[in-house]
Amino acid sequence: MKLFLDTASVSEIRQMWATGILDGVTTNPSLVAKEGRPFETVLREICEVGIPSVSAEVTATEVDGMLAEGHRLAKFHPAIYVKIPMTVAGLEATKRLSSEGIRVNMTLVFSANQALLAAKVGASYVSPFIGRLDDQSQDGIELVRDIRTIYGQYGFKTEILVASVRHPVHVLEAAKLGADIATMPMAVMEKLVQHPLTDLGLAKFLKDWQKVPHEKSGGA
Ligand code: E4P
Repeated sequence: MKLFLDTASVSEIRQMWATGILDGVTTNPSLVAKEGRPFETVLREICEVGIPSVSAEVTATEVDGMLAEGHRLAKFHPAIYVKIPMTVAGLEATKRLSSEGIRVNMTLVFSANQALLAAKVGASYVSPFIGRLDDQSQDGIELVRDIRTIYGQYGFKTEILVASVRHPVHVLEAAKLGADIATMPMAVMEKLVQHPLTDLGLAKFLKDWQKVPHEKSGGA
């Protein structure tokens, strides 16, 4: 399963890219706004890190505007996936961009029927927002299960990008269901690494290491 960071913070992306576990980045208008810098500046810096997949979202809401932004973003850098919202206009724009070979990440997906439509119009990624569903007392992981079943049944190639991930159990459940990608904030990715028994075990090994007699310098 591929692991993406859900952030527009270049320093977070650089830090995780260096570890070797990062496969991509998703941004959205809210995340870009948090950076307080122009969109294209932030996007250029993210792409220059060398990440192979960077999702950048259009803000137009009608087809022509989405197409214009989609074309601009696709030309911006080869790593770009154009993020388009799940609306009627979004479906048409996705169909047209996909048929030109431009990769689209259909976003703001909250139902299996929406995911079915995203696959039918040739989206490269579909992004079910599972945390926001959980927030509404609906089971976000069940949505991932339904999408996996439907895509398997019909052989759709669209990759399931589990989004709005709030904690490591979301990542675990998504992996068990065979989701292709999970995108998460830095704090969640850091938690994937941590385990208290790892910390305790390491502390004990280092303490015991102090008891190992050292060779006398100067040789025998
Ligand atoms: C995905 O591409 C979105 O940017 C993101 O996962 C939304 O997550 P949120 O619900 O935490 O804002």
